[in-house]
Amino acid sequence: MSDPRLDLLFEFLRFPSVSTDPARRGAVADCAEWLVGKLRGFGLSAELHPTNGHPIVVARNVHHTGRRTVLIYGHYDVQPEDPVAEWRSAPFEPVVRDGVIFARGSTDNKGQILAHILGVAETLRSHVDLPVNLIFLIEGEEEIGSKHLAAFLDQHRDSLRCDVIAVSDTGMVASGVPTFTYGLRGIAALEVRVTGPKTDLHSGIYGGVVMNPATALARLLATLHDADGHVAVPGFYDNVQPLAGWEREAWARLPFGDAQILEVTGAPELFGEAGFTSLERSWARPTIEVNGIGGGFQGVGTKTVLPKEAFAKLTFRLVPNQQPNDIVEKVSSHLQTKCPAAVRLELIPGHGGEPYATDPHSRDGEAAQRALRRAFPGREIALIREGGSIPIINTFKQILGVDTLLLGLALPNCAAHGPNENFPVENFELGIQLNQALLEELS
Ligand code: BES
Ligand code: MN
Repeated sequence: MSDPRLDLLFEFLRFPSVSTDPARRGAVADCAEWLVGKLRGFGLSAELHPTNGHPIVVARNVHHTGRRTVLIYGHYDVQPEDPVAEWRSAPFEPVVRDGVIFARGSTDNKGQILAHILGVAETLRSHVDLPVNLIFLIEGEEEIGSKHLAAFLDQHRDSLRCDVIAVSDTGMVASGVPTFTYGLRGIAALEVRVTGPKTDLHSGIYGGVVMNPATALARLLATLHDADGHVAVPGFYDNVQPLAGWEREAWARLPFGDAQILEVTGAPELFGEAGFTSLERSWARPTIEVNGIGGGFQGVGTKTVLPKEAFAKLTFRLVPNQQPNDIVEKVSSHLQTKCPAAVRLELIPGHGGEPYATDPHSRDGEAAQRALRRAFPGREIALIREGGSIPIINTFKQILGVDTLLLGLALPNCAAHGPNENFPVENFELGIQLNQALLEELS
């Protein structure tokens, strides 16, 4: 590994480009500008497009008619670094330990998008030209639902016209196993607020007399699932596409399963919907998750209070052919039905994104698999779906009319979104090679 590549990644990783945090707005903008400067330095024409949120970066080589156009999408924003105390080294001061880069964004998605950029830069340096017309589209709001990207696609649909899209923001089933992801779950968010008395009350005087919003919320949340892990919301599974036989067989043979999930997560045992394996639950079954819950006294010691409100933040992971709006409506009316009259319920829908599925054996799917074989010689390709979401991918299909190839390099223990996020130097180098093979195969 020549140091300049790592130095460049380290510069990129030092920007605390946390898109959800208003205090980091400047850092997000600085990161976008840095990216534009580097892309120009590599010989691409690059522009920064401001939005009402964070800027979008677009870069391209000199296009020639008759060549295929490939759009590579990625994001330069990252998730918050909390809990900071659990990091072994500072989240925005990248270090390499035992061949692994540790920093927020190392895997998701700075390491992976920079590997694409360096693949292009190195091809341009050695061959002056690329085998395809290339467009880089790198946004700063992926981690907050890509709020402004759909309108941008709509406005720039002519200049963003392309034949295929490639994204490296997904995972590998294990180190060294080339992985092609042909499906992702969708997502929908819903915040639940339960309110009762007009102010916090003395729990000795009013406890047992006024309904406790925290208790009411806990009871409400408990109605979302049965004891077997099935979602208990009427109609939730109505449009769910069943797993295909070949998927269940192929996934059962993968070198990744319960043992690895137990090790990576540290959970005492696994739990999920009865009748499905862990991979099936994660990749092809819809879920309801409580992402956060709060209300009432959180300080040291005790405080005898009956809180006036409690909240929970929910997200639903969706599979083909569930629709985010439909699911939000179904869960909302379920919660309304179950909510006792002694408290008030407020439901605040958040961002959403549809699930994605493509044919791994399409012309470009096969080209992507050839590129993976070149980057990982002699290894069998894992064809998988994944549980995470990249909502804009479905929007690409709707607005630009093209499919997306998901060629990710994240490892199961990459700790994306958590403390000690990491990316092996080896995967960073493989990403550079994969980009070069991919552009050749797609041409
Ligand atoms: N890289 C992930 C998506 C991902 C995760 C794909 C795991 C495959 C496996 C992406 O950056 C991400 O975290 N997306 C969010 C989307 C949300 C904030 C709208 C997610 O999945 O939670
Ligand atoms: Mn992410």
